[in-house]
Amino acid sequence: AAQERIEDLLARMTLAEKAGQLSCFSDTVRPLGRATNPGEAARDADAMLAAIRAGQVGMLFNGHGVAGARRAQRAALQSRLGIPLVFAADVIHGYETIFPIPLAEAAAFDPALSERVARAVAREATAGGLHWTFAPMVDVARDQRWGRVAEGAGEDVHLGAVLAAARVRGFQGNDLSAEDALCATPKHFAGYGAVTGGMEYGAVDMAPTTLQAVHLPPFEAAFAAGAGAVMASFTDVNGVPATANRPLLTGILRDQLRFAGPCVSDYAADRELIAHGAAADEADAARRAILAGTDISMQSGLYNAHLPALVADGRVPIARVDEAVRRVLALKLRLGLFDRPYRSLDPDAERTRIATPATRQLAREAAEREIVLLRNEGAVLPLRADVSRIALIGPCAAGVDQLDGPWSFAGYRRTGVDLATALRERLGARLVVEPGCAIDAPVAGSLARAVAAARAADVVLLAIGEGADMSGEANSRSAITLPAAQQALAEAVAATGTPMVVVLRHGRALALEGAVADAPAILATWFLGCETGPAIAAILFGDREPTGRLPVSFPFATGQQPWSYDRLPTGRPPPDPPAPQGGTGRWRDAPDAPRYAFGHGLGYTRFTLDDVTVPPVLGNAGAVRVTVRNRGARRGSHVVQLYVRQRVASRARPVRQLKGFARVTLDPGESRTLAIPLGRQDLAIVDEAGVRQVEPGTVDLWVAASASDAGLHATTQLA
Ligand code: IFM
Repeated sequence: AAQERIEDLLARMTLAEKAGQLSCFSDTVRPLGRATNPGEAARDADAMLAAIRAGQVGMLFNGHGVAGARRAQRAALQSRLGIPLVFAADVIHGYETIFPIPLAEAAAFDPALSERVARAVAREATAGGLHWTFAPMVDVARDQRWGRVAEGAGEDVHLGAVLAAARVRGFQGNDLSAEDALCATPKHFAGYGAVTGGMEYGAVDMAPTTLQAVHLPPFEAAFAAGAGAVMASFTDVNGVPATANRPLLTGILRDQLRFAGPCVSDYAADRELIAHGAAADEADAARRAILAGTDISMQSGLYNAHLPALVADGRVPIARVDEAVRRVLALKLRLGLFDRPYRSLDPDAERTRIATPATRQLAREAAEREIVLLRNEGAVLPLRADVSRIALIGPCAAGVDQLDGPWSFAGYRRTGVDLATALRERLGARLVVEPGCAIDAPVAGSLARAVAAARAADVVLLAIGEGADMSGEANSRSAITLPAAQQALAEAVAATGTPMVVVLRHGRALALEGAVADAPAILATWFLGCETGPAIAAILFGDREPTGRLPVSFPFATGQQPWSYDRLPTGRPPPDPPAPQGGTGRWRDAPDAPRYAFGHGLGYTRFTLDDVTVPPVLGNAGAVRVTVRNRGARRGSHVVQLYVRQRVASRARPVRQLKGFARVTLDPGESRTLAIPLGRQDLAIVDEAGVRQVEPGTVDLWVAASASDAGLHATTQLA
């Protein structure tokens, strides 16, 4: 019946109406819509409503609020065929309640948490009049200079795939037509996380095997979890912009991966084909995009303007346009919009389901669980409750504007709590707050006041890091160090000799230097959203254990980028243990290792691993067993990580690859035996066409606390 409904509509649509269904525009009907990109002339609300009534618009994006959406939907229902609109938006880490950025969420190493967060976000976003999110970003990020590292799950393929699936399940729930189901869009297809030099919108040049083995698995996992749509990348991929790349958008996306939902372009990416040198003019750009497999044109209006003529004069087959329209109509059907065009446009839900205490509580839980304790020499942390004078110093100490980080969708109520506010509540007059400098500039007199405050304190909390606009889209950095003014502040404060705890805020891994790297205690806190202050305070004072683990390696120097722990081996490895020796694969001026490895994270207790058991020959559904024991004096949580490497194969294998992990929470002295699933398919080698094959041989296994941890070693065989 669904198919008949689609075919019936298709048969009645004009070419212009078909182009309309394939056109997505910035939502200028709703007063709280986000501004369009600079340089884009936005249609005003009346012009947009007229275009909707004329059947020229298939979906609107980045507006919010139910009343305006109902107005727009009414206009769509007044169009000749009455096809409802879909309302989409970049709900990346929260709608009104702003959760930690996705990179922070990955640090929880907890798919169940990711799923719960995505569910809560979907419930809010759908109460605010949305059906569709342009998330999750599942690009595997291999270069920390790239700003969009913040929006994804970090550098690892396995963690990325597991979390992609969890977030899709959370956004969409069990039934995409439900009032609170939000269609997910894994993006950006594909390889965006490997832009050359980390430069935003740059070129992606990668071996087809790397694309298959590293960058596609999170998409595959998201599709297998039922994701409704996909977004093509802005970038070019091996010489052809993704938007015009037929081998990618049709060969891989459709023929290989069998994805059935619509593929939306990125913002005006079809028009950008002209700047790429891949299209002569706008008509040519529309032609290349639709022929490649870009079903929906975002914001440029090129499909409205050119598809009818391109079909009429035979340059684009009608069958290709119909295929794209079918995908869009099928999504609208899946969302239940034909029967309930006002679904998720309920003023009562908007009043009652947004910014609830339960959602806020979840934001707090997530923030607490995603902080990573990088270093804690001399057990400086947790702080004693009776510490008499604390100096909170640094430009990240106070101010709610910066808490949420990049791409916080609505968050208009600005109810975030900063660290200064949270600590003042606990410490009252025992706390002194001094910014010391601005994010990227000295402020006259500020450094001297900060140094004086540090001298007079028992402990310094140095809250430093990136501003919200230093990561995220279009925010690549050529150096991932702290801005000079903050480094100078750290050096001056450290010179006072007062014990110092560094509290970092960041949307990527940072290269820590000097006094910051040497501080006895360092917390990586990402951008934690509205519960930033209370969450950090809870960790500092030990109300909560630090439980986060790094989803990205922290390098010693920017020059180590691109970096990921799962590198291929060199024929000339540096000596182990390291020794000065020429003729090996090493940097002269930096170690051949990260400062803090992927998977690293300390707690306030100590765990040991014992008794690894592995099947001697790996079957289809095996498991690696290990006993974890809490050897410390506090209850705590550990992430046990399983890494593998096949010793000899037809294609070089990475030095280590994560294939499974398990989080366990134990009381002091308690132990538990965990089973981490591992089957022979997990060791399959992927070729350039995406074919997976298992080759016989010996496999090294490490059950470890990070990618650099020796952990416990065992071997197994692939028959
Ligand atoms: O969804 C985003 C995309 O990730 C980057 N460019 C703009 C799109 C829509 O806002």
